[in-house]
Amino acid sequence: MLRRKADWAKAIGWTDEEKKLLALLDRSRVPVHVAIIMDGNGRWARSRGLPRGFGHRAGVESLREVVRASSDLGIGMLTVYAFSTENWRRPSEEVGLLMNLLVEYLNREMEELCANGVRVNAIGRTADLPPAAVKALEWSRAKSAGNEGLLLNLALNYGGRAEIVDAVKGLVGDVVAGKLAPDQVDEKAVGRYLYTTGLPDPDLLIRPAGDLRLSNFLLWQLAYTEFWLTPVLWPDFRRLHLLKALVDFQRRERRFGGLHNP
Ligand code: IPE
Ligand code: IPE
Ligand code: MG
Repeated sequence: MLRRKADWAKAIGWTDEEKKLLALLDRSRVPVHVAIIMDGNGRWARSRGLPRGFGHRAGVESLREVVRASSDLGIGMLTVYAFSTENWRRPSEEVGLLMNLLVEYLNREMEELCANGVRVNAIGRTADLPPAAVKALEWSRAKSAGNEGLLLNLALNYGGRAEIVDAVKGLVGDVVAGKLAPDQVDEKAVGRYLYTTGLPDPDLLIRPAGDLRLSNFLLWQLAYTEFWLTPVLWPDFRRLHLLKALVDFQRRERRFGGLHNP
């Protein structure tokens, strides 16, 4: 039951550039929920003349750093897009490598994640992942279930449309079974059938690697999320970029369709 306090002053090793950004951050307005499309691993490897797998490996290091910084900064939850329902279209060697990296990451990091109070969860059609991945996820979930710090939500075999289809199936099933009346179906009710049930919508979406699209990520939940896009490739993404995104986020005015604040 560890809850690591966000103690920015004590967090070690901030560079001068990071310290300048930290000074601009309002601690009371750090986003509760940050979502990240971890993209650009292949391009990172290609630019170095390396096979794509090197990019995926390097991407895991970015995830480590971002999870750690998010926990230190007091972000409540981090939902990271790690494997989409469309990523099965890639060669089986690449898919296999990504699954191995997932298992390796969980096995290697769980101790430190737990020491920092991180709770691990996964969203998506995770039952259809290879058995070793399913097992590692179950183990990680169970091991970290009591932690009360950052929630690390791994989107795996995740698709926004698949999620909506699954939600509709669950909802229709409950209506047919008489557990839910048709006139009780509203936005809140739909939200309860999504994989993200109980979680607030992301405040901030970060997409590295320069593409300007959602690629089927959190279609329902991103309705009023602030976007932060950068050409930086995910394996080059560091906590400095996270801090830039947070400072930028705090300068935005979120109106949710209402009026401009005078
Ligand atoms: C993101 O990097 C990782 C996954 C989609 C699993 P990519 O592999 O998509 O890298 P690019 O987009 O080809 O550079
Ligand atoms: C989105 O990246 C999925 C993940 C990062 C897991 P993709 O590389 O699959 O997206 P597209 O194909 O460029 O839209
Ligand atoms: Mg990509």
